[in-house]
Amino acid sequence: MSQKNYIEANKNRFLAELFEWLRIPSISADPAYEDDVRRAAEFVKSKLEQAGAQNVVLEETAGNPVVYGEKIIDPRLPTVLVYGHYDVQPSVPNELWETPAFEPTVRNGNIYARGACDDKGQAYMHVKAFETMMQTGTLSCNVKFMIEGEEEVGSTNLGIYVKAHKEKLKANVILISDTGMLAVDQPSIDVGLRGLSYIQVEVTGPNIDLHSGIYGGAVANPINVLCSMIASLHDENRRITIPGFYDDVLEVSKKDRDALALAPFSLDKFKSHLDIEDVMGEAGFSTNERTGIRPTLDVNGIWGGYTGEGSKTVLPSKAYAKISMRLVPNQRSEKITKLFQDHFEKIAPKSVKVKVMPHHGGEPVLTPTDSIEFRAASAAMKEAFGKEPIPTRGGGSIPIVALFEKELGLKSVLFGFGLDSDAIHSPNEKYGLFNFYKGIETIPLFYKHYAGLVR
Ligand code: BES
Ligand code: MN
Ligand code: MN
Repeated sequence: MSQKNYIEANKNRFLAELFEWLRIPSISADPAYEDDVRRAAEFVKSKLEQAGAQNVVLEETAGNPVVYGEKIIDPRLPTVLVYGHYDVQPSVPNELWETPAFEPTVRNGNIYARGACDDKGQAYMHVKAFETMMQTGTLSCNVKFMIEGEEEVGSTNLGIYVKAHKEKLKANVILISDTGMLAVDQPSIDVGLRGLSYIQVEVTGPNIDLHSGIYGGAVANPINVLCSMIASLHDENRRITIPGFYDDVLEVSKKDRDALALAPFSLDKFKSHLDIEDVMGEAGFSTNERTGIRPTLDVNGIWGGYTGEGSKTVLPSKAYAKISMRLVPNQRSEKITKLFQDHFEKIAPKSVKVKVMPHHGGEPVLTPTDSIEFRAASAAMKEAFGKEPIPTRGGGSIPIVALFEKELGLKSVLFGFGLDSDAIHSPNEKYGLFNFYKGIETIPLFYKHYAGLVR
């Protein structure tokens, strides 16, 4: 049977299985879901076994297990290492979901569920593509699977696992579907990802909450101070004011900027989709450049003082914020975190104390477009979509990709099938049925072209 016919004959079962996986709330950020996280790992383990993988194990770590499995058909053939993650982001705010986050539902040709696109739906395409190749006798490369459960919390334990298992993870290329493409009729391949520095700050004013009438106006309000400190981190051109912040930013050449500008993009559609009158960002750069090739600084959350019902006239003792910076080549997260820390401490007025607490970080990556793996990915997309994929820059981060390169010496192919409109991490996350099945159809073509090019 041909791959296409096999997929067609089994498509309903593929979807039913994915739904079973999506029903497990494998939220890595919340320890209350530890058992569910493990169940999600067990689920994909059993599906890899059923698909024909060997030596399938849950590799224990200090945190959530890594699911490993392999199929070595001939040591002389190239080996593809497939990476994905079975953990998901929290579903809150739940009241904004049209149908519950962990009750997958199909509406208008889309699967709605937390993890539908990021990353269970995309990771599962690889399991089913593998099954398809096994069942049709068309597997043309060795394959190793490594599906982790802590991507959404920084992949710290996977990093440790990778360093300890370099021999076992030996491969020729890493294949990842955890990013997006431009449109269902315009394939694209990310050739870069941004890095991340993530920091929490605490600003303390007086040692207790005070009456805002008795003390207000005379004592620093840490929320007011935090807000002006944060505001000062951008200048009037929306450039980040931390000294040295841009020092290592790799300026993208005119030629490369022109190439990136070829990607079809409608600013009007972008604005209307988000219901905004205008965009905002660094002067001198287009919207796609602002998300792709430029670094950012964003407040992810800010709190303090009274936020309950009604009013309480209080001058709070403390204010907090979570701040993230997206980094581009060749910025280093450790250095940027340090620059932030020094600057933030320096700009604090004497009337408050500040504490800067770094969270996880990750390094940016760039992948070459003249490599065998990129050409194979490109050829696969072209064959499946009938159109040459456009190289794009992904604005998000997958911190483990830089570590794969450093520790395993392997480049990754960011073979993503999601759409920006899939609302990953948001309420009503979705993934197109078209994208799901198209991915299952396209992945085997990568193996075919890769095996052909390596030879
Ligand atoms: N799959 C995303 C990353 C992504 C999405 C890259 C779309 C490019 C396009 C991943 O699961 C993710 O959300 N990563 C986090 C980083 C992590 C350390 C929490 C991110 O980018 O915020
Ligand atoms: Mn992801
Ligand atoms: Mn994610």
